[in-house]
Amino acid sequence: MFAESPQDSRWVEARVDLDAVRHNVGVMRRIAAPAAVWAVVKADGYGHGAVPIARAVVAGGSEGLCVALAQEGVELRDAGIDAPILLLSEQPVSQLDAVVANRLIPTLYSIGAVRAMTEAARRAGRSGYPVQVKVDTGMNRVGVAPGGALDLIRAVEAASPTLRLAGVFTHLAVTDEVDNPFTAQQIERFEQVLQSLPTRPPVVHAANSGGALAHAATRYDLVRPGITLYGIEPGETLRGHCTDLVPAMSLVSRVSYVKRVRAGERISYGLRHTFDRDTTVATVPIGYADGVPRRLGNAKGLVLLGGKRRDIAGMVTMDQLMLDCGDDAVQVGDEVVLFGEQGRERVRAEEWAEALGTIGYEIVCGISKRVRRVYLGAP
Ligand SMILES: Cc1ncc(COP(=O)(O)O)c(C=O)c1O
Repeated sequence: MFAESPQDSRWVEARVDLDAVRHNVGVMRRIAAPAAVWAVVKADGYGHGAVPIARAVVAGGSEGLCVALAQEGVELRDAGIDAPILLLSEQPVSQLDAVVANRLIPTLYSIGAVRAMTEAARRAGRSGYPVQVKVDTGMNRVGVAPGGALDLIRAVEAASPTLRLAGVFTHLAVTDEVDNPFTAQQIERFEQVLQSLPTRPPVVHAANSGGALAHAATRYDLVRPGITLYGIEPGETLRGHCTDLVPAMSLVSRVSYVKRVRAGERISYGLRHTFDRDTTVATVPIGYADGVPRRLGNAKGLVLLGGKRRDIAGMVTMDQLMLDCGDDAVQVGDEVVLFGEQGRERVRAEEWAEALGTIGYEIVCGISKRVRRVYLGAP
């Protein structure tokens, strides 16, 4: 997989298994049925690469795509992706002509945005332009308050025939905590809004991955999973609900340098680790500039080399880290799996997340542009 010599190429890549992504879409479709799946591919497909991921999820049966930014939608259109694309938040007015030109479905939650969107659709000579309304049922990030939803939807309807209400949705704050009663409260608020409307919107949705997996009442007409499509669990309490999902990304490198370090020597910036016996140390050419968090320094057993879990010795540096290999024979060029599978062992991105007090999302989204993505499986 890697080029033959270090001169030819960098010995670091993120391998993305598109078959796994397609498989995961199938898992989520089966769980959510009869609701459809609209895959969330924002943030460059959670770091996996938006265009290949979008193609894979559509091939796997995702009926639509969700992104955060107009530019993310434009990137997909430029790549020839034709599926419906929903923008999950309001966009700056400067983006609305591009929204219309690229057939992106805007989300609206303020009167100002309804007006600006009406003007943008008119400028483009469009009528019946689909828009969706987002209701904030308690996350307090974005969305119209439940008390203002009816007025906002009336404003969208008053903009007919230029605009057309295509859907109403909300976003859930704690679906990754299976027993948290706040999900039911959010759904109750959402139901009250839906019941206050003169007619049911054509499409209603609420569920992210956690909702789709564990809260049947959130599934409505479609679900918007992101993280599960990449094979990562939304939260620890959902572990049992995710057993069929296959992680899509593995982060792989090679040993670039090997040496024997004597007992009593210390290592890396700050000299925060002291070897208590003579030890073989392997240097790996990947660091925090690639998305291996610096705080993973001295982590126990979270990197694979020679089919075994290894400890990181000392701090992770910008471009390199070191592994404690004990007395094992290690050579320059040996494969290192930062997360992923090697032999019978597997390290999951979630394990890194747990060690760092964060979530798997941040690990995969944090793999930087410097790391080449290599795609495996059918495109
Ligand atoms: C509005 C909205 N819907 C769905 C998702 C997908 O969430 P998850 O990755 O937990 O499935 C996100 C992601 O943050 C989101 O912001």
